[in-house]
Amino acid sequence: MNNIFNFLSATDVRFGIGAVKQVGQACRDLSVKKVLVVSDPFMVSSGNVTKVTDVLDDEGIEYSVYSDFEASPSIEQVANASDLMKENGFEGIIGFGGGSSLDTGKAIAVLNSNDMPVEQYFGIDKVPNPVCPLIMIPTTAGTGSEVSNACILRNAETGVKGGICSRFLMADIAICDPEMTVSCPPALTAAVGMDAYTHCIEGYVSNNANILTRTFHREAIKLISSNLRKAVANGNDIEARYNMMLGSTYAGWAMAVASLGACHAMAYALEGKYHAPHGAANAALLPAVMRYNALGNLSLFKEIAVLMGENVSGLNDRDAAYKAVTAVQQMVDDIDIKGVSELGMTEDDIEDFAKKTMKNQTRLLNFNPRRLTEETCAAIYRDALGK
Ligand SMILES: NC(=O)c1ccc[n+]([C@@H]2O[C@H](COP(=O)([O-])OP(=O)(O)OC[C@H]3O[C@@H](n4cnc5c(N)ncnc54)[C@H](O)[C@@H]3O)[C@@H](O)[C@H]2O)c1
Ligand SMILES: [Fe+2]
Repeated sequence: MNNIFNFLSATDVRFGIGAVKQVGQACRDLSVKKVLVVSDPFMVSSGNVTKVTDVLDDEGIEYSVYSDFEASPSIEQVANASDLMKENGFEGIIGFGGGSSLDTGKAIAVLNSNDMPVEQYFGIDKVPNPVCPLIMIPTTAGTGSEVSNACILRNAETGVKGGICSRFLMADIAICDPEMTVSCPPALTAAVGMDAYTHCIEGYVSNNANILTRTFHREAIKLISSNLRKAVANGNDIEARYNMMLGSTYAGWAMAVASLGACHAMAYALEGKYHAPHGAANAALLPAVMRYNALGNLSLFKEIAVLMGENVSGLNDRDAAYKAVTAVQQMVDDIDIKGVSELGMTEDDIEDFAKKTMKNQTRLLNFNPRRLTEETCAAIYRDALGK
């Protein structure tokens, strides 16, 4: 009862349909008169970015759009943009897009106020200096980057992904407008929705969770399990889109403190080698990881089953806990998530992936509810492959 717990949060979250129109006001609130809009090439070529730039035009806020990076941005790509802010006198950054755009914006901000190469800041609270004002506007639901303290970058040579986690990377203002996600096609909706779902499940059972993070993750599990199928099946269902964005925001909010676990740790190896989208890699591994982790905390997994609407009456704790695994498997099947082999993985990868996970992802494995070894990690990959 008397444990001291903490909760990190973006300073100001503006949530709701039409909220994107507040982007000009958000700049004024932060005294930003000239801003860099960071948004990936598709968001620019498809015209999506005009949802932000039209408002900036109307309200006389000076801006440029930066889009010279790709999905799952690499260290090298963000390094190329390190001088952009100083050379052009931008006073703040707007990230507009999926997690790749938001994280590129955060990385540019880190480089603008700190002198070392970006990889020096990987880890927890290793960024020495505060960054410029950050406004984050997600268009997927999603990574939760708009309310998280993280920025995830890929090493293009090794394929290894790492995270900069810093309190300076919490957005000053997060603008969450569910309408921004209506244009996401079904496969993208499914993958990013499962990323958010993995955040809440891993966060809920994390050994670093606290009463407040569990409150957020509990709501997120309910919202996502009852709305993801609807959002995938009918992208124009604005109520489902609203609930998905609320769920991904809750999930991301609590993630900074609760931390994630083995599923994210193991997904990075798959993403690195086969360029699998982040959410798709998590979704393909999640049932197998849950099957392994459930024994680490049966009662929390039983709670997840109940939150997902499973009937556990009359079941012992073990059987009730495994109902959560079958419920997630059912969800993944219903929304047509690809398996790990369809993403490219083969039996030959198992050993190498297990080694890489244990070596590179200790930050994520620290709070996993059940201890992993290289052997058990390999067994989970084998389970996901159906071998
Ligand atoms: N910082 C964090 O807290 C955090 C958390 C989880 C994941 N991540 C990172 O986020 C990245 C993944 O982000 P993501 O899954 O949101 O995808 P993404 O940003 O990589 O985008 C994937 C594709 O979807 C398109 N897209 C985005 N929004 C769209 C929309 N509304 N309509 C149509 N197309 C749209 C993009 O243009 C892109 O082509 C990964 O690098 C992952 O590691 C970061
Ligand atoms: Fe994620």
